[in-house]
Amino acid sequence: MNATNGKHVAIVGATGAVGQEMLDCLEARHFPIRELTLLASARSAGREIPFRGKSIKVKELTHESFEGVEIALFSAGGDLSLEYAGSAAAAGAVVIDNSSAFRMDDQVPLVVPEVNPEAIANRPKGIIANPNCTTIISLMALYPLHKLYGLESIIASSYQAVSGSGAQGIIELDEQIKVLGAGGVVTDDMKNVYPHQIASNVIPHVDAFTENGYTKEELKMLNESRKILNLPDLKVTCTCVRVPVHRSHSVSITAKFTHPVDVADARAAFANCPGIAAKDNPDEQLYPVPLDTTQKDDCLVGRIRKDMVFKNALALWVVGDQVRKGAALNAVQIAELIE
Ligand code: A2P
Repeated sequence: MNATNGKHVAIVGATGAVGQEMLDCLEARHFPIRELTLLASARSAGREIPFRGKSIKVKELTHESFEGVEIALFSAGGDLSLEYAGSAAAAGAVVIDNSSAFRMDDQVPLVVPEVNPEAIANRPKGIIANPNCTTIISLMALYPLHKLYGLESIIASSYQAVSGSGAQGIIELDEQIKVLGAGGVVTDDMKNVYPHQIASNVIPHVDAFTENGYTKEELKMLNESRKILNLPDLKVTCTCVRVPVHRSHSVSITAKFTHPVDVADARAAFANCPGIAAKDNPDEQLYPVPLDTTQKDDCLVGRIRKDMVFKNALALWVVGDQVRKGAALNAVQIAELIE
């Protein structure tokens, strides 16, 4: 930290999985910081967290926590964002909120820096929203193709890692794997985060169900993609699935475009594309898997092929670390855009 240069940054939820990843991204990207305020619940107050060779004490989050703060990165859940983001903005901070609380608010830009960085300029509430992780990862692959061919509709299935459910998701998977490995059975008292056994299983249910049979997670793909791409008529249907993977989401996508597509051109579109690269050579069994992107900044796309059902359509497979690009990194990249 530099006494004169850089910004006063606060992290709300600094002790959480995404909060910790935000610290890692700030450090790795040499984000200019004058002062760093780490906020969490009263349970964590006084805990020391290392940052750039120093140790910083966590403080309890209150409405008075934001004096002098210029950028407030929120990642402590939607309820706390709703309660405290206004206080941070009133104190003069630009809030970058990782929850879903403000994403569909017309007065709050929803930003993927590689896609719609210009949107940050119009933030009447002083709040910028970080999109849903599966949406970010999908759009990282779809945006370069949209620029080439004009996106019309998306049919997707996600394969979402348990770390998307926080630290408890990882613990639940690991405990169940241990029991199964020892020849035991997973009992009901071992199913707390997920309604079904997750080890050795897949669960087609992420977030709560809504009236039309889709889950909230699936509707985020529809509504957030429309807002970020500024395509109000974009059609999206999606099935979100939890899989026994620790980290990195994968998404299988059929994308339909207004113009004819070409596989070689589509692959080439990812060359020199910030934040995403193609790993796509079926002859050498090269395609992205979740372990490839775990704790990495960039997303990977592969299995690019002409869809056999729809005209002007491509089928593809995209993988990205949902804690990093799907959350913490995207938020820090937004912070980098703020003057
Ligand atoms: P704490 O560690 O003190 O509970 P995760 O999603 O990984 O579980 O992280 C949630 C984050 O939100 C943690 O940093 C957690 O802090 C923080 N948090 C939870 N409840 C509160 C609260 N009432 N006030 C402030 N921070 C909270």
